[in-house]
Amino acid sequence: MPPGDLDRALCGLEFPTDANVIVGLERADDAGVYKISDDLALIQTVDFFTPVVDDPYRFGQIAAANALSDIYAMGGVPKIAMNLVGFPLKEMDIGILRKIIQGGLDKIKEADVVLVGGHSVEDSELKYGLSVTGFVHPRKVLTKKDLRPGDRMVITKPLGTGVINTAIKGGLASQEVIERVTQMMTALNREAAEVMQNYPVHACTDITGFGLLGHLAEMVVGSGCSMQIEAVKIPVLPEAIGYAGMGLMPAGAFKNKEFRSGMVEFSSSVDPVVQDILFDPQTSGGLLICVDKESADDLVSNLIIKGVVDAVIIGEVINEPKEKIVVK
Ligand code: CO
Ligand code: CO
Ligand code: CO
Repeated sequence: MPPGDLDRALCGLEFPTDANVIVGLERADDAGVYKISDDLALIQTVDFFTPVVDDPYRFGQIAAANALSDIYAMGGVPKIAMNLVGFPLKEMDIGILRKIIQGGLDKIKEADVVLVGGHSVEDSELKYGLSVTGFVHPRKVLTKKDLRPGDRMVITKPLGTGVINTAIKGGLASQEVIERVTQMMTALNREAAEVMQNYPVHACTDITGFGLLGHLAEMVVGSGCSMQIEAVKIPVLPEAIGYAGMGLMPAGAFKNKEFRSGMVEFSSSVDPVVQDILFDPQTSGGLLICVDKESADDLVSNLIIKGVVDAVIIGEVINEPKEKIVVK
């Protein structure tokens, strides 16, 4: 969803809260967090969207991996899920929905989560996703805030899914590329989240619709800090560079760029195509982990050992200029 477009409906409304709300609506974080006791808090999130690939089973997997990701991004463990379905019953075979739900179910099982319910409505457009509840220790909640100068920024999946999905819709992507990007989008952020539990992580989010720079901007706003990012270190699917060079950027990338360009300073050495890809909206993207600098190399080595092979340090938190992202 382009930043702000529908969120504007929330402006000026008053939301109820209580003393146990650790992360609520005013924080605009990956999920809400509610303290139940001194050593247990609930994390709640919900995510659903229209198909991003043609294969219904794979679409189910992607939507579920994406919904589960917000629990991982908060430093939590997902436990319970519910299906959300909108389905055009008069135009589509119910067998398609069955395959979508099977895809989601297989990811839910892989995450050791149980499905306890759901809700379906007849809809003109197919939509699927999950609401997910997870657990976290109240003092181990990872929000987007709490950056400290010197911290390193680690990314766990390559960028470029938005560009490649645009190429797929245009019928331009090869079967090989479709396979690669689908595998990336169906991959859970579970391993990354489990590894990061053992490190002094100060902040975390997952990269989705706002693109890398949009999500970095959310971390920087209000922090008093800035970030310096090295463009050459950022993993990008090679095919995405090719397609982006052909102008196959999704509309969301330009919206993201327009919204946040005031916060971003690109050095002239950064290829304009790469600049655009840094705003590319991701579907079921990786985690963005802000970790103490002493532990950053060790975190990345361990992520790679545990199969998160694209994990890499892309930059660091700096003091000046205030609340900007400098891309070198
Ligand atoms: Co998120
Ligand atoms: Co989300
Ligand atoms: Co977080």
